[in-house]
Amino acid sequence: MHFPGVVYIGKNSLFYFKTLQNKKILALVSKSVWEKHQERLERSLPNCDFRFSHGEPKKSDMESLHKEIQKKGYTHVIGIGGGSVMDLAKTARLEKNTEVIVVPTTSGTGAEVSRSAVISEGDEKKPIVSEKLVPNVVLLDPSFTLTLSKFKTAYTMVDALIGSIEGLVSRTSNPLSEGMALLAIDRIIPNLRLACENPDDVKARENLQLAGFLSGLVQGSSSVGLVHSFAHYFGGKMRLPHGLAIGTFTLPVIKHGMEKTDRFQKLQASQYLNRDLLSDLTKFLRDIDLYEYHKKLDFGEIDVKEACERIRSDVCTTTNPYPVTDDDVKGILSKMEVI
Ligand SMILES: [Fe+2]
Repeated sequence: MHFPGVVYIGKNSLFYFKTLQNKKILALVSKSVWEKHQERLERSLPNCDFRFSHGEPKKSDMESLHKEIQKKGYTHVIGIGGGSVMDLAKTARLEKNTEVIVVPTTSGTGAEVSRSAVISEGDEKKPIVSEKLVPNVVLLDPSFTLTLSKFKTAYTMVDALIGSIEGLVSRTSNPLSEGMALLAIDRIIPNLRLACENPDDVKARENLQLAGFLSGLVQGSSSVGLVHSFAHYFGGKMRLPHGLAIGTFTLPVIKHGMEKTDRFQKLQASQYLNRDLLSDLTKFLRDIDLYEYHKKLDFGEIDVKEACERIRSDVCTTTNPYPVTDDDVKGILSKMEVI
């Protein structure tokens, strides 16, 4: 497993910046975060150059960042924002001796611990994978996540929940990742309900941020499974945010999986999903308004042959707990009544 060097958890995490006096620092900040937290960031980082970063990073963004690091001699690069901002900042570690610090302002992407970064080139998204992309320092300050909408909080954390469940039952799970997956699951279930009811609940937000971090470690170690393969194919076609695509396929794919393998029994060790996994998950998704979300979507005409091929060849299918056939893919789609 690959771990970041240092992780600070809680609302005082930004005090870490006090250790960076006399360093040459560049901070990449998403525009929406800057608008809400400018004063606090300028106070925490008095001798830092700030740059805005928006949208998914392109190869040209990465190249100009690297040129700037060389030209100005930055020793530290900080990424403050969601997955895209962190991904761009993480590539600074590919430059010699640059320390990377990330401050996630959303929960559930896992970008703060992953050893990949998605960089687009033309119309293509190209993930770069390298051990060097794991940040040196992660600061988990829950106050940045307080302004996330209920809907976005729900679907990004459902992604972290399903990533943990799929990591737990994955063919490549290990005892350490299994323990972390169960910790993440049992933090997400109660705290996501609380954060959806009261978005200002800092303790719930802190637990969700920690769970998202753990889920990122689990997925980096054990990968995920078929819910992700469905989400990649249909989410890309229908331009759905990743977490929403995950929420859409959660119940039908897990229901099918439970008929094919007994590995889902590992969830008996969870405090919250130990009774009847499907009805527990159904109730949970209903509570956060994501139950049967697929019925609101227009799937259009589905090319079943292409869907089977692409879903079966998705890299996440290789770690699914049972081998996936065309009949499995068709069976799930027909149970959803979309083919
Ligand atoms: Fe995911």
